[in-house]
Amino acid sequence: MVAEVLDALRPRPGGCYVDGTIGGAGHAAAILAASSPTGWLFGCDRDGAAVEAAQRRLAKYAGRFEIRRGNFAELSEWVAAGSCDGVLLDLGVSSAQLDTAGRGFSFQQAGPLDMRMDVRQPMTAAELVNTASAEELSRIFWELGGEKDARKFARALVREREHHRFETTQELAELVGRLAPRYGRKTHPATKVFQALRIVVNDEIGSLQSGLAGALRILKTGGRLAVITFHSLEVQILKEFRRTRARDYAFTGEVDVPELREPRSPELRLPVRKGCKPNESEVAENPRSRSAQLWIMEKV
Ligand SMILES: C[S@@+](CC[C@H](N)C(=O)[O-])C[C@H]1O[C@@H](n2cnc3c(N)ncnc32)[C@H](O)[C@@H]1O
Repeated sequence: MVAEVLDALRPRPGGCYVDGTIGGAGHAAAILAASSPTGWLFGCDRDGAAVEAAQRRLAKYAGRFEIRRGNFAELSEWVAAGSCDGVLLDLGVSSAQLDTAGRGFSFQQAGPLDMRMDVRQPMTAAELVNTASAEELSRIFWELGGEKDARKFARALVREREHHRFETTQELAELVGRLAPRYGRKTHPATKVFQALRIVVNDEIGSLQSGLAGALRILKTGGRLAVITFHSLEVQILKEFRRTRARDYAFTGEVDVPELREPRSPELRLPVRKGCKPNESEVAENPRSRSAQLWIMEKV
């Protein structure tokens, strides 16, 4: 969704932009090209391999960017408040991560059960799968994967790990495949289990909540935030962020009682109300983009 992101962020010479999920630097290169010759880009990624790939890809823009390895949840610790014209967060995993068997993100490739975006962190998917209780695993599969057979999978996993540790993607995918044969399913039965584990291993929910708040802090008034989501949990968090920050009132407690509202200035404007989907040709070229949605917000 490069063209749509450029439309949203409107990069211009002299502007300052942030790509919090720089990955292979496809979007970052487009932002630097569109803001030539004097636009500046701060980039970050939790994945050291992505940071190296991005440095290489952006070499021709040397002197116009700074890339750090880290979580976008911490962007506002190194990018000054109110200094940016545009921030991009393109969530989830990259094709490079999914296609590298040794990273353990994909059930379609034999690899270690790892799933860490940042390999410096101690907890891997194997650690989680081999130590969490059946109740905890069931909650993870259901709440973060929406897996309706969550309890069945969790119990079977805990029973089976009495005999051996789960160390590989294949072992886990095979267990789930045995318990839930594919029948009419369009996707592999392990899809949701893998998604749920990845979300926990990388604390994706906590990072997104802090990342959105931080992005708003570093934007200038009139600056734009573009977020690309891939699954319903991300959409839920984003919608809640948009709703609360675009309101012209606040309330305390759980329930919004109109008589108890306190007026305040909204922090966000929503130039486009809905998430935009990629066009058909992009989905045909890159089937992984089919569930992507781009959300645009403007700081007021
Ligand atoms: C979908 S890819 C981004 C692709 C990129 N926009 C491009 O044009 O190549 C997502 C990237 O975000 C990184 N990532 C995900 N969550 C992150 C976080 N909380 N902080 C920093 N990087 C993160 C992943 O490591 C991955 O490289």
